[in-house]
Amino acid sequence: MKLSRRQTLQLGFGAFLGAGCTQMSQLSNSAFGMPSKDFPIKGSLSLKQRAAAKGIIFGAAANQRDVVRDTEYAQVLAKDCGILVPENDLKWADLRPSPDQFDFQRGDWMAQFTKQHGLLLRGHTLAWHQSNPEWLKDITRQQAEQVLVKHIHTVVKHYAGRMHSWDVVNEAIDGAWSDRADKLQPTQWVKLLDKNYIEIAFRAAAAADPNAILVYNDTSVDYDVPEDNRTRAAILKLLESLKSRNVPIHALGIQGHLDAAEKRFNEKKFRDFLSEVAGMGLKILITELDVSDRSLPADIHVRDRAVADAIEQYLSVALDERAVSAVITWGISDRYTWLSRYPRPDKLPVRTLPYSDTMQRKLAWNAIARSFDAAPKR
Ligand code: G3I
Repeated sequence: MKLSRRQTLQLGFGAFLGAGCTQMSQLSNSAFGMPSKDFPIKGSLSLKQRAAAKGIIFGAAANQRDVVRDTEYAQVLAKDCGILVPENDLKWADLRPSPDQFDFQRGDWMAQFTKQHGLLLRGHTLAWHQSNPEWLKDITRQQAEQVLVKHIHTVVKHYAGRMHSWDVVNEAIDGAWSDRADKLQPTQWVKLLDKNYIEIAFRAAAAADPNAILVYNDTSVDYDVPEDNRTRAAILKLLESLKSRNVPIHALGIQGHLDAAEKRFNEKKFRDFLSEVAGMGLKILITELDVSDRSLPADIHVRDRAVADAIEQYLSVALDERAVSAVITWGISDRYTWLSRYPRPDKLPVRTLPYSDTMQRKLAWNAIARSFDAAPKR
């Protein structure tokens, strides 16, 4: 069974190559070309300050349960980030224990934390096919629109005026597997409302908070591989269709879950994609940047340079596009990265984010800093 790139990323090339093949992480360093750069940086500005100097917002995802109990982590977030996005606290599974209950505790704590530290807050996500509560599986076609609109209206209204932006719809498209012409994933929302759920969601969010930036967020648009090429094409068609119907959408979110072992990054294709999105009058946010090092050799010096190289190569193209207004990493420290759920074959801790699990800055931090320093001003 062909795995999509998203699934390959999660399982890692080692699993994808299967038994009998050399585990990528055992290949010699030279197999990955030891990037020679040391990613030197100038000055002592934070990532937030370097980004802001170019009119860009930098931030990270974080879970309330980690921020509330880890002071060192909370201090790094407050120092380096200009915006935070609750990684899970605003998903249906965390917000909706039952059809008539909304649990805003963790989301409200994060809203208070960002307010206290002068940070922006963004919401993730209002309509997705993952992290939904069990009861949602039982809704009928007749109930579906009312359930979706009630959720979005209640949640967005609750945070109205405090939310920089919302990922209104997340990962609607799957260029790897969908056999639909529009490449929509056959999710519950599609089964109940077909593609109309997307317009319904955006209109409900706009009615509840006319000031929030409303974002369509998706993944696997980064590389010159068949499924990403199909995903980019399908996203452009979706955005054009939404814009043609005056659906209140303001930005595209590109998640940016990169893989340091994936060398098929085509600068021109990526640049052209961003330019086409910007040409529709949409802003672009890099919303979940991290770099899987799962298939890299064990040597930390090789891994950190390869991860930094992947970030700098990606952001140098992305930030050339002035419509790119934010760069958000999916976590800021390896201490809490979701990628640790997909352990390396050699079981060494993964190193995917700007800070190590001991809260030391890494070359990934330098690569992001250098990218902001080199970016054109907005
Ligand atoms: O909070 C419960 C806990 O009470 C329970 O004991 C535990 C065991 O079942 O689960 C905990 O919830 C988990 C949650 O993360 C918080 O840790 C969920 O099971 C788990 O599915 C959830 O995973 C998140 C995943 O999205 C699914 O929502 C990851 O942390 C999160 O990093 C990941 O993020 C996604 C973005 O939302 C969308 N883009 C892709 C990205 C990576 O998959």
